[in-house]
Order: sequence, then structure tokens, then C-alpha cells
Amino acid sequence: MQWKVGLLLMWTNVRVVLGVSASIAIDFLPDLIAALREQSAVVDAILTPNACKMVSPLYVSALTGRRVYWDEMSADAGWEVPHINLVRDAALFLAAPATANLVGKFANGIADDLVTTTFLACRAPRLVCPAMHPHMWEDRFVQDNIARLRQNGVIVVDPVLGRCATGDVGIGAMAPPENIVSAVARALGFE
Ligand SMILES: Cc1cc2nc3c(=O)[nH]c(=O)nc-3n(C[C@H](O)[C@H](O)[C@H](O)COP(=O)(O)O)c2cc1C
Repeated sequence: MQWKVGLLLMWTNVRVVLGVSASIAIDFLPDLIAALREQSAVVDAILTPNACKMVSPLYVSALTGRRVYWDEMSADAGWEVPHINLVRDAALFLAAPATANLVGKFANGIADDLVTTTFLACRAPRLVCPAMHPHMWEDRFVQDNIARLRQNGVIVVDPVLGRCATGDVGIGAMAPPENIVSAVARALGFE
């Protein structure tokens, strides 16, 4: 019991910036956010424009209990320069789920939306949780991008074996929340 209280205390005031992209694994977002919040982490979510076509920012804000960000060019938040200020004192940047597209952009320094600009501006540990069809995960370009991320100090939480929406089975399913929370804890030096 005592160690559990100690762990919860460690997580207090840990602010995780969560970048969300347009993968079918967005379905698991409620479980992931709940698992992070269960540890007492504060979660600030940013959605890619395509992710906003799969879930509404309003829905995600209800999950995090916080304002959600998606539009880099919005006058509403413009004065805050969100991609810089969101990560200035963040403990960690977590991209989950990360599409093949997002992995490719991260690996090549592309900064064309709020998730990618925030990733580049972040000086805290950065974790990426890929989620895609096994054929995409096996693709040489994707694997090269993953290797490039790892070579540059980004922590990649490997996808796992699963059945896709298409019925195909293989490696590409986003790691389950418990694996992701463990990887976050390790990155923060809690484990
Ligand atoms: C229903 C649906 C599910 C998708 N699931 C995935 C996925 O799991 N992984 C992936 O890499 N791309 C997936 N895609 C393709 C991405 O949504 C597409 O590459 C998009 O441009 C990604 O945008 P974003 O990375 O900016 O969010 C899916 C597309 C659709 C229509």
C-alpha cells in the first residue's frame, strides 16, 4: 500500500502532452487517458486535423478534463504560441496513437500542424506509440523512420500483435495502456 501511495506522489504534477493522430487505435484513447490520470498525471491533448475527423476535441476534453488543442493557427490561442508554451514545462511528450504519417513527419523534422511543431519544440523525453496495419508497420520506409527516431533518442513503444479492423492479424496494434504507462514511468525515472 505504502509503495502505491509513493508512486502516486511521484506522478503528482506530472504533465503529459499527448499528441493524437488519425489511427483507428484512437478507439483506445479513453483507456489510455484514464490510465495516465489514474496515476495522477495531468494530460494536455493535441489532435492532428485528421484526428479531429475521427473524434471531436470536445470528447477528448471530457476525457482529459482540460482544454484540448488542435488548431495551430487559431487566433484564440495564438498569443500563447501554443507549440512552444504547451511543452515548456511538460514532463513528457507522448504521441499515441501515432500513424505512419506522423512517424514519418517526426523522423524527418516536418512541422506542419500543432502535434508536429510541439514535438520539435519539446526538450522533455518524447515517446511514440505507433499504430497501423501490419503491412504498413513492416514497410521499409516506416521501419527506417522508426530506426531514425530511436537513433535520435525518441522512445518508441513497440506495437503488438492484434487483429485489425480489416480482419488481418499481425504486429501493428498500438501497445496496451499498461505498456505505455510503464514506458512513461521508465522515461520519467519512476521505474
Ligand atoms: C478509418 C481509418 C483508419 C485509419 N487507421 C490508421 C492507422 O491505424 N494507422 C495509420 O498509420 N494510418 C491510418 N489511417 C490513415 C491515416 O488516417 C492517414 O494517413 C492520415 O493522413 C493521417 O493523418 P495524421 O497523421 O495527420 O493524423 C486510417 C485512415 C482511416 C480512414
